[in-house]
Amino acid sequence: MTTHLVSLGDFNKSELQAYIDRALELKKEAKDGVRHQQLAGRTIGMIFEKPSTRTRVSFESAMYNLGGQVIYLSSKDTQLSRGEPLKDMARVMSRYVDGLVVRTFGQHVVEELSAYATVPVINALTDLFHPCQILSDIMTVIEAKDKPLEDLHIVWIGDGNNMANTWVQAAAKLGFKLTLACPEGYDPDAEILKNAQNGAVKPIAVVRDPKEAVRDADVINCDVWASMGQESEAKERLAIFRPYQVNGELMACGKADMTVLHCLPAHRDEEVTDEVLEGPQCVAFDQAENKMHIHMAILEKHLL
Ligand code: CP
Ligand code: NVA
Repeated sequence: MTTHLVSLGDFNKSELQAYIDRALELKKEAKDGVRHQQLAGRTIGMIFEKPSTRTRVSFESAMYNLGGQVIYLSSKDTQLSRGEPLKDMARVMSRYVDGLVVRTFGQHVVEELSAYATVPVINALTDLFHPCQILSDIMTVIEAKDKPLEDLHIVWIGDGNNMANTWVQAAAKLGFKLTLACPEGYDPDAEILKNAQNGAVKPIAVVRDPKEAVRDADVINCDVWASMGQESEAKERLAIFRPYQVNGELMACGKADMTVLHCLPAHRDEEVTDEVLEGPQCVAFDQAENKMHIHMAILEKHLL
């Protein structure tokens, strides 16, 4: 059966853990010089309707590292931009490639593609979710901390965006404490939050005060204040989110060994100061590397 990865909500704890375990193993193998060929002769199509540096290049590298090949299609390159129905695109692409990696605006786009595609569809970011990113971020947390994930308090600071929604799902599935400090009106998606809180073993809470949120945090996580597609709101958001900047003052309210995550790209001196991003507690570049290892694990699992 074709298994898609459009939302972490479709997977159970052991399935999510398996991606991370395999990525940790592949990372170790890469350092030991092990070469892979398990996807030789297979091809993925990458349909990207938003810009990307990390996700695009790490998926392409992941596929080549497994012996496979990639066809990259930006939105202007396909007939989607001229209104070809998604259901036709899905069925046509399924005749040519062994999997689709899709970055787009609406979550409904990846859902409709996955409903019609006969090959796996992998969500490489929508306005609602960024599932592959959160898997590599959790892998990075596991590497950075010497406590089990279930014993960690992870904090999100800033916009209740696609990243935040996916952290909410991950907290419920993997069973860790999550606090989100968001300004009023910028909470994560209400339905995703309610569903996660109903099934969670550890608290998942939204607070307004970032200093209160970081007090016993093991990990804090930040992201841009205006996501792709929200450029027209950027100026207004600058003022609203200013109290949510991850800076020296906020760091001083947390534990001395608090780890800082940022999925990048970062806007220095907006959501995070240069001092914190370049500081010893920040693991943003490990996160960026781990995207390639997790994408290898995802491609192996869904394409083999
Ligand atoms: N973190 C992330 O998804 O980065 P890109 O937008 O560069 O892919
Ligand atoms: N929330 C950001 C994440 C970028 C990787 C965006 O959607 O633009």
